[in-house]
Amino acid sequence: MNGKNFSPLKTIVKADQASLAQAFVDYFEERLILRLSEENPKPIGFATGRTMEPIYKELVSRLKIWPKKKLDKLLEFWESFNLDEYLGLSEEHSSSFRNYMYSNLVCPVGFDPNKIHIPDSKAFNPIKEAKLYASKLFNAGDIGLQILGFGLNGHIGFNEPPASRESTCRVVSLSLSTRLQNLDSFDNKLANVPLKAITLGMKEILKAEEIHLIVTGSSKSEILNKLLNDNSSNDLPASLLNRHERVFLWADEAAFQN
Ligand code: GLP
Repeated sequence: MNGKNFSPLKTIVKADQASLAQAFVDYFEERLILRLSEENPKPIGFATGRTMEPIYKELVSRLKIWPKKKLDKLLEFWESFNLDEYLGLSEEHSSSFRNYMYSNLVCPVGFDPNKIHIPDSKAFNPIKEAKLYASKLFNAGDIGLQILGFGLNGHIGFNEPPASRESTCRVVSLSLSTRLQNLDSFDNKLANVPLKAITLGMKEILKAEEIHLIVTGSSKSEILNKLLNDNSSNDLPASLLNRHERVFLWADEAAFQN
């Protein structure tokens, strides 16, 4: 506990998910244009989940109308790291985050798969894979802009409560709440939802230069309200973002009912 409410640098609230996606992508596209002139742009941090779907759809439609030369340059100097991945799923499993990224971004935009880093879901040694993933990110210069979704129990990535600010990329056990949240991606059978995952830790997330927490839908209003009004606590992992200097909150009206 540090007794401080979550106070993002800027809170952007839009009427619905579609207008929020447009506003966020307006911002993100400007950041991508800036990257083109940067000497060593830092990697982008990607999240998955239903919240991100309209955002990635909007992003794909914007990038599709970029002039070829400009898009080629963006892709040439691209590097991104996903937050997390389930363990024990085949890469082709329709609900793996790798598959999600391929359908939502990699294939539609034409990213080089080698430049979109995602933990290996079927790593023979997951603990080693987590360490390797952390060192790959470190060697790439850490995250520049990090996009984050928000779990119903306040998790970010798969940093389940209680979360430590010092946690690093690791293998985690998923909480029942998180497994239930993602049930519909696994034929609504709890037994099909993985028990474990690899996630970037709070430490790697907090090293990002700027963080964008995106929250939509009425199912998230209670936990968002808690985030905005309660004290920062390890029991609400997203509240650990509160000491970061550049955190933005993007919400739709359904989620932001304060
Ligand atoms: C999942 C993922 C997160 C995601 C969050 C929200 O469990 N680990 O990366 O951002 O929970 O998911 P959704 O957008 O589907 O609500």
